[in-house]
Amino acid sequence: MHLIRLVYASEMAKPLTEADIEAILHSSHCNNTNNYITGLLCFNKQYFIQCLEGARTEVSRTYQRISHDRRHKNIQLLHLEEISARDFPE
Ligand SMILES: Cc1cc2nc3c(=O)[nH]c(=O)nc-3n(C[C@H](O)[C@H](O)[C@H](O)COP(=O)(O)O)c2cc1C
Repeated sequence: MHLIRLVYASEMAKPLTEADIEAILHSSHCNNTNNYITGLLCFNKQYFIQCLEGARTEVSRTYQRISHDRRHKNIQLLHLEEISARDFPE
C-alpha cells in the first residue's frame, strides 16, 4: 500500500459557528477512522489548513470530497508526497 501525505489550505466561505466546526470535525472523525486516514486540521477565523495521511486512493477520494465542500473556497494544494511513515499517526 502506498502511503501519501497531502496538505492544503483554504478559506472559509463565510464565518463558521462552533456548531459548523463541530459538524466538520464529526464527519471527518467518522470517515477518516473508517478510511484509516489520520492528520491534522488547523483553523482560525478565516482559513483552514489540513494535512491528510493514508493510502493514496483513500486520501485522494477524501480530498475530492473536501474540495467540493461549499463551506470553504480557494482551496490550494500545498504539498503531496509519498511517505514511509505517518507524521500524525493518531
Ligand atoms: C475544512 C474542511 C475539512 C474537512 N475534512 C474532512 C476530512 O478530513 N474527512 C472527511 O471525510 N470529510 C472532511 N470534510 C467534510 C467533507 O467535505 C464532506 O462534507 C464529508 O466528508 C461528507 O461525508 P458525510 O456525508 O459522511 O458527512 C471537511 C470539510 C471541510 C470544510
